[in-house]
Amino acid sequence: MPAIARLGYLGFEVSNLGAWEHFALEVLGLGLAERGADGSLALRMDEQAQRILLHPGTSDDLAYLGFEVEDEHALRGLAQTLSLSGFAVSEGKPETARARRVAELFQLEDPSGVPVELFCAPDLARAPFRSAAVPSGFVTGEEGLGHVVLLAREAAAHDRFYRELLGMKLSDRIHTELAPGLSLDITFLHANPRHHTVAFTKAPLPKRIHHFMLELGSMEDVGHAYDRCLERGIPIANTLGQHPNDGMFSFYARTPSGFEVEIGWGGRKVDDATWEVRTYDRLSTWGHRPPAVARV
Ligand SMILES: [Fe+2]
Repeated sequence: MPAIARLGYLGFEVSNLGAWEHFALEVLGLGLAERGADGSLALRMDEQAQRILLHPGTSDDLAYLGFEVEDEHALRGLAQTLSLSGFAVSEGKPETARARRVAELFQLEDPSGVPVELFCAPDLARAPFRSAAVPSGFVTGEEGLGHVVLLAREAAAHDRFYRELLGMKLSDRIHTELAPGLSLDITFLHANPRHHTVAFTKAPLPKRIHHFMLELGSMEDVGHAYDRCLERGIPIANTLGQHPNDGMFSFYARTPSGFEVEIGWGGRKVDDATWEVRTYDRLSTWGHRPPAVARV
C-alpha cells in the first residue's frame, strides 16, 4: 500500500516577515534560499532546495504540510486511494509544483481542514548547505524535515487519515492529566526511523499547529541555540528537557507567529521489527518547564 515517506516541507502564513527572517536565519540557523516578489521567504536546512516557506498573511499559522512520497508511481497510487476514500484530491498546477520546487504534487485537506500536499522528487540546491550557527547540521535525509504536532478537531478522524490512508504507523501515546479534570491525549506516528513525523491531540488552542521540531546534529548546538534565544530576547516556551517517548533533548521557543518550535537533539529511532507501542503518563521525564516555573 502506498504511504508517505517523510515530512518534506512546511508552509506558514506569517504577519511579521521581518521578525521571522531574523528568527529563522539568526536564531534557528536556517539559510535563505529565495526571496519572492510578494515578500515570501524560502528557507533551506540541507541539500534540498527549500524546506520552510513563509508567506505574508494574517493567520500566523500553518498554511500547508508537504509530505514526500518515494516516487511518481507511489504518489499516484496514494492520491487514488485517498480519492476512493472520499477525499477531494486535486493534482497541483505546474506553477504550484514549480513554487514548491517539486516534480509533481497532489493537494487535499486533512480532517481538520489543514491543506496537505503530497509530492515526489524535490529539487536539490546547486550549492551545499552549511549553517554557521548550527555546525553539526540538521538531521534530515530519510527522516525528513522534522516533526509537527497538530491540533485535531477530532482525534479518530485524524487517526484514520494519517494511519490508515497516509500509511503512518503508531509509535506511542501520551495520556496525562494537566490539572484535575483536564487530561491530554497525544498520538505519535512515524513514517520512517524518526520517532514521530506527525503527532496530534485534541486541545482547545486557536491554531492548527502546536509546534514543529528541528533536530540538530549535536547537543552542543542545541545549547548554543538556547543561548541565542536568551541573548536575543526570544521567548522560551519550555526550558531544556527530555521527553519520555522519543527521548529528545530539547527546548521550545515561541516563533514570531505565536506557535512554537522545538529545537532538539538525540531523538530515538524506530525499528518496526522490534518496536513496542507504549502509553506514557507524562510529557517530559525532566525539564521542559514554563519559564515562570523555571525562575522559582
Ligand atoms: Fe515535539
